[in-house]
Amino acid sequence: MAYVISTINLKGGVGKTQTTIAISEFLASSFGKKVLIIDLDPQTNATVSLMDETRWLNMDKKGNTIFQLFSDKVYGTEVFDINSSIVKNVSNINSGIQNLDLLPSSLRLIDIQDKLPLVSNSGYFVKTPITILKDSLGSILENYDYVMIDCPPNLGLITLAGIYISDYYIIPTVPDILSTYGIPQILTRINSFKKDTGIAIKPLGIVISMYRSNNRLHDSIIDSLKYRERKGDYPRIFEPYIPLSVRVSEAAEFQTGAATLGQKYGYELADRYTKLVREIIKYVE
Ligand SMILES: Nc1ncnc2c1ncn2[C@@H]1O[C@H](COP(=O)(O)OP(=O)(O)OP(=O)(O)O)[C@@H](O)[C@H]1O
Ligand SMILES: [Mg+2]
Repeated sequence: MAYVISTINLKGGVGKTQTTIAISEFLASSFGKKVLIIDLDPQTNATVSLMDETRWLNMDKKGNTIFQLFSDKVYGTEVFDINSSIVKNVSNINSGIQNLDLLPSSLRLIDIQDKLPLVSNSGYFVKTPITILKDSLGSILENYDYVMIDCPPNLGLITLAGIYISDYYIIPTVPDILSTYGIPQILTRINSFKKDTGIAIKPLGIVISMYRSNNRLHDSIIDSLKYRERKGDYPRIFEPYIPLSVRVSEAAEFQTGAATLGQKYGYELADRYTKLVREIIKYVE
């Protein structure tokens, strides 16, 4: 059975998607794990940087994205088919990464989000939208070692449906004031969701992203995060940190022309990601 890990921060642009993608790529490529990425974000960033856009648009038209799964529940249709919706061997390095699969998102997910509360009253298939992913994906999870869920920057119903099937969550953050400001709120809100639903999700740790070395603000924020980690208020702060690097922003482009993860990220950064993923495996398995 897969370990399911969500990446969450209420703040936008802190590296959630990049962290999800890189952890998944290195889990599959360097550690031989079978990995599924679920893109739960209507911004579709993970999807467009991992697969060919024309293919994705075609799939979306045919209802082979996560949108259809939620739409079926809202409208009582049965269009979504999980097996036709999983894209195999994704990633933007030359021929994709073996054992790295993607369940793509759709821009249309934004429309369905507002209609999801209707599911509770509809008497269709489920009583609460929170269990939609569990009900629909349960059997698929057995095919993977890890399922990584890229969440939008909110704790709306779609995100909660992801949290509901997660064993762990990772909080990616830039070590600055505004990016770390909402961390207590994430911990509190997921904790109360956990109590309400009886799920077993645990915080796995905080991943520092876009770190600038020799920057006083970044270093002092990390010091205060570590202080709260020692006090037991915050989960572990993972090392190594992921530095701010143009290689990373360039790596988001689907056509990178890189043949390996070392070429895509540069060897120094690839080495950091490998070490980070080794840490993650150590705490999960
Ligand atoms: N270490 C890094 N160095 C430089 N750029 C980065 C780094 N990590 C992420 N980026 C870039 O910063 C931007 C935001 O990152 P990302 O999309 O991962 O954040 P996010 O938290 O998922 O955002 P959103 O809340 O919009 O989903 C992207 O353009 C990404 O390519
Ligand atoms: Mg994102």
